[in-house]
Amino acid sequence: MSGSKAAVIRRGDYQAPSYQISEIVLDLRLDPENTEVYARLHFQRTAPAPVTELHLDGESLELLNLQRDGQVLAESEYRQTDAGLLLLNPPEAFILESRARIHPTANTSLSGLYHAGGQFLTQCEAEGFRRITYYLDRPDCLARFTVTLHAPQNSCPVLLANGNCMATGDEEGGWHWARWEDPYPKPAYLFAMVAGDLAVVRDQYRTASGRDVTLEIYVDERDTGACAQAMDSLKRAMRWDEEVYGREYDLDRYMIVATDSFNMGAMENKGLNIFNAKYVLASPETATDSDYQGIESVIAHEYFHNWTGNRVTLRDWFQLSLKEGLTVFRDQEFSADQNSRGVQRIGDVRRLRAAQFPEDAGPLAHPVRPDAYSEINNFYTATVYEKGAELVRMIHTLLGKAQFRQGMDLYFERHDGHAVTIEDFVAAMEDANQRDFSAFRRWYSQAGTPVLRAVGSYDPARHSYTLTLHQETPATPGQPVKEPVPIPVRIALLNTQGQRVPLDSVVGTSETVLLLEQSEQSWVFANLPDPVIPSILRGFSAPVRLQDPLDDEARSFLARHDDDPFNRWESTQDLAVKALLAAVADSATTPLPGALRNVIAATLADRQADPAFRAELLALPSEDYIGEQMPVVAVEAIHRARDGLMRAIGAQFANEWMGLYHDLAAVYQRDGLSIGRRRLRNLALSYLIASESGSHEEMTLHARQQYAQADNMTDRLAAFQLLAQHPHHDAEDILLDFYRKWHEYPLVIDKWFAVQAAAPRPQTLRQAEHLLVHPAFDWRVPNRVRAILGAFAANPTVFHAADGSGYTFYAEQIRRLDDLNPQTAARLATPLSRWQRYDAPRQQAMGAALKMLASKPGLSRDLAEVIQRSHPGKD
Ligand code: TRP
Ligand code: ZN
Repeated sequence: MSGSKAAVIRRGDYQAPSYQISEIVLDLRLDPENTEVYARLHFQRTAPAPVTELHLDGESLELLNLQRDGQVLAESEYRQTDAGLLLLNPPEAFILESRARIHPTANTSLSGLYHAGGQFLTQCEAEGFRRITYYLDRPDCLARFTVTLHAPQNSCPVLLANGNCMATGDEEGGWHWARWEDPYPKPAYLFAMVAGDLAVVRDQYRTASGRDVTLEIYVDERDTGACAQAMDSLKRAMRWDEEVYGREYDLDRYMIVATDSFNMGAMENKGLNIFNAKYVLASPETATDSDYQGIESVIAHEYFHNWTGNRVTLRDWFQLSLKEGLTVFRDQEFSADQNSRGVQRIGDVRRLRAAQFPEDAGPLAHPVRPDAYSEINNFYTATVYEKGAELVRMIHTLLGKAQFRQGMDLYFERHDGHAVTIEDFVAAMEDANQRDFSAFRRWYSQAGTPVLRAVGSYDPARHSYTLTLHQETPATPGQPVKEPVPIPVRIALLNTQGQRVPLDSVVGTSETVLLLEQSEQSWVFANLPDPVIPSILRGFSAPVRLQDPLDDEARSFLARHDDDPFNRWESTQDLAVKALLAAVADSATTPLPGALRNVIAATLADRQADPAFRAELLALPSEDYIGEQMPVVAVEAIHRARDGLMRAIGAQFANEWMGLYHDLAAVYQRDGLSIGRRRLRNLALSYLIASESGSHEEMTLHARQQYAQADNMTDRLAAFQLLAQHPHHDAEDILLDFYRKWHEYPLVIDKWFAVQAAAPRPQTLRQAEHLLVHPAFDWRVPNRVRAILGAFAANPTVFHAADGSGYTFYAEQIRRLDDLNPQTAARLATPLSRWQRYDAPRQQAMGAALKMLASKPGLSRDLAEVIQRSHPGKD
């Protein structure tokens, strides 16, 4: 690989800062081209002895003036470096004043202070604050912030920063100012400011202790009608954190700002969250049911950070999962309490398997607490977030609800106002409950997904059932040898009537958690007069790959009778995967074997069950998930097999699908039952279209009618997607119609781009090229870029086209994006890291794409690290 290798930061090298900054006073004169930043920092030495050099982080800053204790610093007292400033032989305590110039419009990285869509916004996590002023930009430096913003009254009537607004005023030339103070000391990554012409939607919340909090959501004037879901979710999240964790909000005001220009989902800046508009704005006409659910969980996630992340923050970035894993666990549980727990768990596991399992099995695998990085932004990963949440969930499972809460209480009691580590969290859980989690800590340090093998046998003579569990974790980069991890395996044993049998270990229980601590252990269950069927890893009690001993008959039985929703779903999926793998291996195999057909028939007949859950049961596994189960991903064969199974299920049950389609028609409502019914109905429509039975014309007629008449985006988009991706004579008209209707709604136009880039057709590559030069396309808006490139990379037969054209196209776009937005470029590049999973020609083509990127002039540190780790040894 060419280019310079960026410095590697290692967890073991952590050193406490030699100085603390107790107070920072910031003053910003906001101009899109040239913003002037004044900062006054109060330094105090914390190291026991004087230091010769104190490094301040600073990036892309034009230093105008530097003073210490009121005196301009002499040449001999400081040095400017690539990474900031070195203060030479600083005194024990001093005040540093700096003036610097920055360029918000030119800042397309969306890190630091940027100007986009007429607004000034900041994004400081992880290391963006150093692009605003010289600072100790590290999470273990907590300071009190006072911030004054100056801007033209006209273009920026609204001036926001963290905490409380203390004073405002007018000044010369039509400018005005506002001063904000945050009473809570915080690390710089939680700093935020916003200035622009924004409308506000206000509401009130009374905390459990009776304090009134003003809730504000800032959006474009025309979007004020689309904030109800966000506001309602916020209030429910606030109540939930009081009820479940005893945590109240701690400021008088909670502000949320929505923007189209954002790299991630949202950001938990103290008292002033900044959100990707996608997770704020929703109306029935523009947002789908899953958009609504996304808003609920991201609003809750950022709110929950106020305690897990802000009040208790991180010592260093290796501890990222301390806030992210824990906060994802909290938002998942919140959503489970708001909606259907079973359906929520299935969705969470589906996401974990789709993103984290492949990451853990490839060259980018890393522990939940990483050991080294060169660009921390590359570690906002499914492993840190989703696997991190699973680790917290296992602790919850091992302790039980009440004990987990005691652990959390102790964690807050000990560490409120401090910057701490994952170790501190685990220790609080142990100490509050007199438990020993020494072995459990391996989950944080060891990468890779354990394979859990289960073997069971019933002994009719002894009336006992023996279950043997075995674990093994495959090697990952830098970790060739793995130790066993403690795996909580929730199980029940079912009799032939589908009832859970009593387990004699604890009187009255019929479900228990086995803790597999060794490589292999066995458990004997006695007093079982009749054979039993084991239901293993209920609720997906650990993030492992389970290989169980069940035959088709047992699996079919569980798919119908298991009272654990996750395992019932899992058994159905397993039957489908097995049928699909057989069809992949031999295209002459019957696509719909009897066992699967009977389970589907039973689910279709089960009108009692929750429609959202039935929709989960009846949906086929994704092509990527099928590929995950193969040694080498057979791209086209998987696509054909899945299409074939869709068609067979569609045709076999055409009457049932049609019946569901008609019976489930309803006027739009937003309750959980209605959402489930829409989901099931749209699944029925997709099977009807896939069936390609004699009445294909009739089927697309249904889709066209649904597209034209829908009173909500869920139904409209479902029909639009089916029509756009199954081309027929008026597909072009429908594409145009959709664009014309929605061109003023960026979030809807993102869907329009994504649907086209996701079409599983050879023409999609050319279509994607056209879309990249469409007038509505904008390289500076990550949502728009992801709509095309994200959807493209998730489109297996197009991205992995045998001739390598998908990879070449894709890499060229990433190369282009890297100049504007390295964070998003690096994130989008990760699918290219999965080359080992494909056949030799594809491996070569993906390797060539990575190599092309590696040779890019001015390659960012972000992208360089992803490429280098993806393709080790190819220097
Ligand atoms: N802390 C944010 C969250 O998970 C994530 C985030 C938002 C982020 N913007 C970012 C991370 C920019 C890195 C860079 O809630
Ligand atoms: Zn988060």
